[in-house]
Amino acid sequence: MTISISPIDPVSRASFAGEVSGIDITQVLPASDVAAISAGMDQYGVLVFHDQRFTDETQLAFSRNFGELEIASGDINWGKDRRLPSPHVNDISNLDNDNALLRREDRRRLFNLGNQLWHSDSSFKPVPAKYSLLSARSIPSSGGNTEFADMRAAYDALDDETKAECEDLVCQHSQLYSRGVLGFTDFTEEDVSRFAPVQQRLVRRHPSSGRKSLFLASHAGGIVGWPVPEARAFLRDLTEHATGRTFVYAHVWKQWDLVMWDNRATMHRARPFDANEVRDMHRTTVACERSTMAEAA
Ligand code: OGA
Ligand code: MN
Repeated sequence: MTISISPIDPVSRASFAGEVSGIDITQVLPASDVAAISAGMDQYGVLVFHDQRFTDETQLAFSRNFGELEIASGDINWGKDRRLPSPHVNDISNLDNDNALLRREDRRRLFNLGNQLWHSDSSFKPVPAKYSLLSARSIPSSGGNTEFADMRAAYDALDDETKAECEDLVCQHSQLYSRGVLGFTDFTEEDVSRFAPVQQRLVRRHPSSGRKSLFLASHAGGIVGWPVPEARAFLRDLTEHATGRTFVYAHVWKQWDLVMWDNRATMHRARPFDANEVRDMHRTTVACERSTMAEAA
């Protein structure tokens, strides 16, 4: 079988969210397959692969085809004992280091609930994420979908006046802000300095596809040069626009799905599920090559 990529919803979202078949990505791949997947990412922004039985080792090897990997330093538990041994694997689960369910009030669980707000991975780091690759190792019996919104289509749909207003804006991103939205303020002094705000352009141009997009995230809590309430009201309106249902693909997970998304062109969010069930996802993350401030506008 050879690799083939087709839109998941050809009628309403022909150029957003593709499904890949005819390939086992847990194996070492020829350059031609890696190039086909990269081209698919440029076109679709989100790619879904079914039945990929990854270990952390094979997931890391597949991910490294697409660039340098980030370390998982955005975790609230970074620097402490972790459940997963590799510093390049983000623990997107509701499990503790003994693989037991986190208690409802556990600080790690409450921090991780921030994933339910629309975001782009690591926009709170000076150099944000390029691709995220999320592998479903265990899933709950219902709920726990992940939703993806197309920030290219959202940009294209803005009126010209709003496009012009957004063009040169720079936002301040921090996990202190996104967690604060949910009322999570249980940060140590070390967290506060680790999560100091970083600057990101609001409008990006994709280096491969050339398409412009809105670089929004719940981490964005300010706009340089704007009064805070005005900035937050403006970003809230843009986010409401950009996450309208026409721009959104909702992924319903099966065990061993691997979903890969381009954080430069999309936002995503987790959906709730029963806290008494296990949901164990492992994420690897490919970093951008430079900050958005250093990217060509
Ligand atoms: C992530 C993330 C959403 C989910 O892994 O970056 O936001 O549904 N995950 O777990
Ligand atoms: Mn995320």
